[in-house]
Amino acid sequence: MLALARRVDRFIRVLNETLCPADRARHVEALVEVAEVLRGLESFFECGLRETQGRSEPLELARIDIPHPRIIALRRTAAAQHHAHRGIARTVSSFSLDALRSIRRVSQIRQFTDEPVPDTVIDTLLELARWTGSAKNSQPWHFVVVRDRETLRRIATLRPSINWAAAAPVAIAIVLDRAEPMFGAYDEGRVTERLLTGATMLGYGGGVAWFGGPEHDSEAKRILGIPGSLTARQVVTIGRPKSRNDPRPTGPSRGRKPLGDLVSYDRFGNTKR
Ligand SMILES: Cc1cc2nc3c(=O)[nH]c(=O)nc-3n(C[C@H](O)[C@H](O)[C@H](O)COP(=O)(O)O)c2cc1C
Repeated sequence: MLALARRVDRFIRVLNETLCPADRARHVEALVEVAEVLRGLESFFECGLRETQGRSEPLELARIDIPHPRIIALRRTAAAQHHAHRGIARTVSSFSLDALRSIRRVSQIRQFTDEPVPDTVIDTLLELARWTGSAKNSQPWHFVVVRDRETLRRIATLRPSINWAAAAPVAIAIVLDRAEPMFGAYDEGRVTERLLTGATMLGYGGGVAWFGGPEHDSEAKRILGIPGSLTARQVVTIGRPKSRNDPRPTGPSRGRKPLGDLVSYDRFGNTKR
């Protein structure tokens, strides 16, 4: 994690210990991962190039006064400093958001267009899934890619709550070996979120269709030819979102609890930072 503060026309790195108060800057502008900084700089550079081409203003790439040799920032020459201030401020305050925007709101998608999902997209998602971390690196998963319409229809009729899954172009069933149940569930959650997030980042959407308990799980395993000794609780559907609406009459509401209800500092229940 990196803390950045703005000083005149540059950003400086502020050590975490000095955040409060930041002795080299009036305030901290952003707390960002180094990778985000680089992505932000990349987009700033592109934006700068576009603006530069439009206005014939030169761009200067400058190393800023930070102890870390790999962190760089873009700075414009004096003629463009005004824009540079705005540009950099906009970039730094927004790039942490920009970098996270696609994963911040990974909605459950239950309505898909008919557009097929190419194998390359599925392969990319499976590759992403493969690299998910798991307890003791046990990688307890196997993935069944389901494109067969009839198979998907039968899965979707397991219970009304997942009937929308019948119309998904493709689904990935997550199969787990008999890992320790708590770790297995944790690992399954992680790999599921990767599929949902990856699909969203590629311009698709994903939805969890939970079979709904041991009886339904057994039936789903029969449909999918999964050995009874393994665990299977869901498919993750993938497709181009047609709508974000929940077609079910009694689905849960969207939205999230405010952070203020969720976070304590130093001690549970202490809401003051
Ligand atoms: C363990 C689990 C089971 C879920 N089961 C279903 C399901 O059976 N049917 C369904 O439509 N959505 C299911 N969902 C999706 C949730 O309803 C969804 O994540 C939640 O409503 C938040 O949706 P949002 O991110 O679009 O706001 C499930 C999610 C999880 C994590």
